[in-house]
Amino acid sequence: MSNVAEVPSAGPLCLTGRIEVEVGGEIVADTDDVALCRCGHSANKPFCDGSHNRVGFDDPGVIQGGRLVPGREEVADGAPVRIVCAVNGPLLVRGPLAVVGSDGVVSEGTKGALCRCGLSSTKPFCDGSHKESDFEAD
Ligand code: FES
Repeated sequence: MSNVAEVPSAGPLCLTGRIEVEVGGEIVADTDDVALCRCGHSANKPFCDGSHNRVGFDDPGVIQGGRLVPGREEVADGAPVRIVCAVNGPLLVRGPLAVVGSDGVVSEGTKGALCRCGLSSTKPFCDGSHKESDFEAD
């Protein structure tokens, strides 16, 4: 799979491949390399601004739970993945992606939800914890 999201320890989601980032129905990035905030503290969400260092974001970067799943539609080779930013919620994966933990464990699929509030107990995937927090993001 050509679209990859690496999950470094205590760092952002580092995506490479054909990546589209959607906020409020608009594509705000169409790129081959982007770092998206997963600590919840970037002033430039959904993009990383280095705030994980300032706040001492502490996460090993391994897949602690959750996974991507296959979607119903067939996906063409080389298709882009769209990352849809849910308002006050996760990064929704729509398209082919391999999430690679810092220990090399991989979850592949075309649908899923990645945590961007920093509070999930199943990082890098969302477990709904953003709902009980005051996490706010477009
Ligand atoms: S976005 Fe963090 S738990 Fe949902």
